[in-house]
Amino acid sequence: MKARQQLAVQALTLNYRSEAIGRSHILHADAFEWLSSIPENSLHAIVTDPPYGVKEYNLDQIEKRANGNGGIWRIPPSFDGHTRAPLPRFTALNPKERKQLDEFFTEWAKAATHALRPGAHVFIASNSFLSQLVFSALVKGGLEFRGELIRLVRTLRGGDRPKNAETEYPDVCSMPRGCYEPWGILRKPLPVGMKVSDCLQQFETGGLRRVGPHKPFDDVILSGRTPQRERRIADHPSLKPQAFLRQIVYAALPLGTGIIADPFMGSGSTIAASEAVGLTSIGAERYLDYYEVSRKAISRLAALAVEPMEDLQASLLDLA
Ligand SMILES: C[S@@+](CC[C@H](N)C(=O)[O-])C[C@H]1O[C@@H](n2cnc3c(N)ncnc32)[C@H](O)[C@@H]1O
Repeated sequence: MKARQQLAVQALTLNYRSEAIGRSHILHADAFEWLSSIPENSLHAIVTDPPYGVKEYNLDQIEKRANGNGGIWRIPPSFDGHTRAPLPRFTALNPKERKQLDEFFTEWAKAATHALRPGAHVFIASNSFLSQLVFSALVKGGLEFRGELIRLVRTLRGGDRPKNAETEYPDVCSMPRGCYEPWGILRKPLPVGMKVSDCLQQFETGGLRRVGPHKPFDDVILSGRTPQRERRIADHPSLKPQAFLRQIVYAALPLGTGIIADPFMGSGSTIAASEAVGLTSIGAERYLDYYEVSRKAISRLAALAVEPMEDLQASLLDLA
């Protein structure tokens, strides 16, 4: 069974530059092209954190971030003497860019629907400002909306006084301070009339894995910002914490078997989380520098002993 799964995941690397890390594989590929090229019904789940501002990971914007001269990246206000890493400025998207975002996620959902098995789940990171646009585009592309997972985390977004009128309106903030990150939970529709139990039997998909016999998977997870020790291993502006991701990948495969994909893997934190909990995954990254980061980071992140709320504790210490 395991050997068959290993052959199956290896076959999904096609002719891309790739390598095996533990039981998983990574490839240097464009997510759209790769998802559309693999055989239909190949994947049991997707867990991903996409470039939801669409343009923040274009080469010109990555260069601007590296040079510290703006573009869509802004430096959040520093406090307690700590300078914060740049964050993409999603509120700066104009109507044309919002339309591009809609098209991006509709097309991406079409490619994902092709690659996923019926009943396969998608967990996709978003933010409270854009989630409504992203989730409806995903539904347009063929996925079924199943709800939201709330990652409780202080994101440093919002909460600021009106720009250039801070002293005039000291008691006003233009947007709420971000205290959660919404993750869309979607699914490739089950064949018409099929029950979840039949889907589990035929495709090994359709449901979510329970945390334990007396505990279903909950849709709110207490979390925090990614701990420094993980940031030191994987230098990526959107690195997600292992403590959080390990819970998601575990839930994504209802029977604990199958292949999880992260088509926007960045530095490979989803792949590392899958490795850490003994699951098979495959990640694609378009930008060669991040692919190289992931090659070195995945096994080190996977080897970390992580308590379920370690990221939360680390971020509380950070704020103390
Ligand atoms: C939000 S980041 C994900 C970071 C990841 N969560 C981590 O912990 O490292 C999105 C990643 O998708 C990559 N990307 C953007 N467009 C892509 C595409 N069309 N195909 C594959 N990767 C892409 C970006 O270079 C970036 O590394």
